[in-house]
Formats: sequence, structure tokens, C-alpha cells
Amino acid sequence: MKIVLCGYMGSGKTSVGFRLSKTLSVPYFDLDKYISNAESRSISAIFLEFGEIYFRKLESKALKDVLIFEGDGVVALGGGTPCYGDNLSFILNQTDVKLIYLKASISTIVNRISSKNNSRPLLMHLNSAADKREFIAKHLFERRFFYEQAHHTINVDNKSLEEVVEDCLALL
Ligand code: S3P
Repeated sequence: MKIVLCGYMGSGKTSVGFRLSKTLSVPYFDLDKYISNAESRSISAIFLEFGEIYFRKLESKALKDVLIFEGDGVVALGGGTPCYGDNLSFILNQTDVKLIYLKASISTIVNRISSKNNSRPLLMHLNSAADKREFIAKHLFERRFFYEQAHHTINVDNKSLEEVVEDCLALL
């Protein structure tokens, strides 16, 4: 069984995924890290040098590479992964995958990304809190349709990392 985590930037996919994999003693794959290692560049550098369309192609290929491996594991997707190309149908067509949406409210996302949005290429241009909130509200509205097709949804607002991991474990 592969547990695949999706959700908007700042929803906790990476930290929850890593902790969950340790608890279950299974391999952990972070899609952004996989892409970044394969390209020997940060995600920001890929966006900057080659643009978003190029990144989305890499992301789609990386998703397939990672999900085709044999055995158990936990996979943290990038925030946009289920929203492009055939990625979501590919994920949902895998019989050994459980897709979990880590659902965070706009306020939770704004609070979490405020201090560290410099490394997120899609949010770098946003300066004021009002701009961030407006952008995230619209973006999340567009993406919700994809996230909500996950097999399970966990609300992460006001929960600690441990609590979210517990919620994931309860679904298995
Ligand atoms: C993106 C989210 C990022 C990364 C890239 C694009 C997105 O991952 O894949 O910057 O489109 O939401 P995180 O959700 O891990 O920040």
C-alpha cells in the first residue's frame, strides 16, 4: 500500500509524510525532492530557468516513476501535482494507492507560508498579507475540485503534526 498525500502548499504534506513513513517503517518519497535531485537544482531554480510548464512535465514523469515502484511507501506530492495533466487519474487508477487530502483553511495556509514563502516560486511575488490571502483564496478555490477527489480528507487546522499523523494512521 502506498499512502499519497496531497494538499495546498503549507498543508503539511512533507512533514506529515516523513513522520508517517517513520512510524510505519516504510520508505518516504518527496516528489519535489525527487525532481530537485534528478535535476540537480532547487524547485525555484527550475521555475526560474525553465518555467512552470517545464516543471509540470518533470513533475508528471516523476509522479509515475515514484508510484510505479514495488512495495509500501509514503509519498508527499507537490501542491499542484493532482491538478495538472493526467496526474490525478493516474494516481486514482493505482490499485495500491490511498490518496489523502490534507485540508487546510485559507487562514492556516496564510499563517504557515508567511515566514517562508521565499522558497515557493508561485508565492514569491506576493508581498502583503492581503495579497497572499487573495491569491491563495482564488488558487485554492480552483484546486479544491482536484483535491476533493482524494479517497480521504483530513482537516489539519489547529492540529499538531502528531495529531495529523494519528488521523492518517486511523484511516489505514
Ligand atoms: C507547487 C507546490 C510546491 C512545488 C512547486 C509548485 C504548487 O510544493 O511543487 O513550487 O503548484 O502548488 P509544496 O506544496 O510542497 O510547497
